[in-house]
Amino acid sequence: MNIEILQNISTRLLNKDETMPYGLLLDADPSMEAISKYLPSSDVYVTISEEKIVACFVLYTIDARTIEIKNIAVTDSLQGKGIGKFLLRQATQIARDKGAVFLTIGTSNASIGQLYLYQKEGFEITAIKHNFFSEHYPEPIFENGIQCRHMLMLTKHLS
Ligand code: ACO
Repeated sequence: MNIEILQNISTRLLNKDETMPYGLLLDADPSMEAISKYLPSSDVYVTISEEKIVACFVLYTIDARTIEIKNIAVTDSLQGKGIGKFLLRQATQIARDKGAVFLTIGTSNASIGQLYLYQKEGFEITAIKHNFFSEHYPEPIFENGIQCRHMLMLTKHLS
């Protein structure tokens, strides 16, 4: 982790009337239609560095026991410096504080780096939504030369 960067960032809840960081949100989820569906019922947290939004994550309450990270993104120039890991830990703490027992996150079968990061942070693969991306997204999406077809759901037990 890049300690100096982490010491100079702060995360806060975005107010409903503030501008959404759509650039970041679309980096994690290329479907504006999907984003527009979960955003009104979600809490958006933004990470600030030098007065600019450099990262965000979106928390959606599924039920009294389960919260889902619907979207998480770090600005291109700051990726790979530990901010993503830090945000996952912040999301975990917020979910715990809200009394949730499970924190879930979904990513594609082709998102190798994300799968690595989420499992390293204590998430386990608990479900596969077969053909989720092929059926719900208008254009084929590729990552690491692999087509994103299925959504892998990962869950972290918060106790
Ligand atoms: N490829 C390879 N390794 C990766 C990747 C990747 N895409 N992302 C993270 N890692 C690894 C890092 O190498 C690092 O490994 P280490 O702990 O062994 O050193 C570890 O994961 C932690 O990396 P961070 O630096 O904390 O991750 P980062 O700040 O880059 O944030 C994130 C990760 C959010 C995935 C970022 O790369 C990003 O915004 N990517 C584009 C958007 C995206 O794909 N978002 C997630 C989609 S799924 C969803 O939103 C629910």
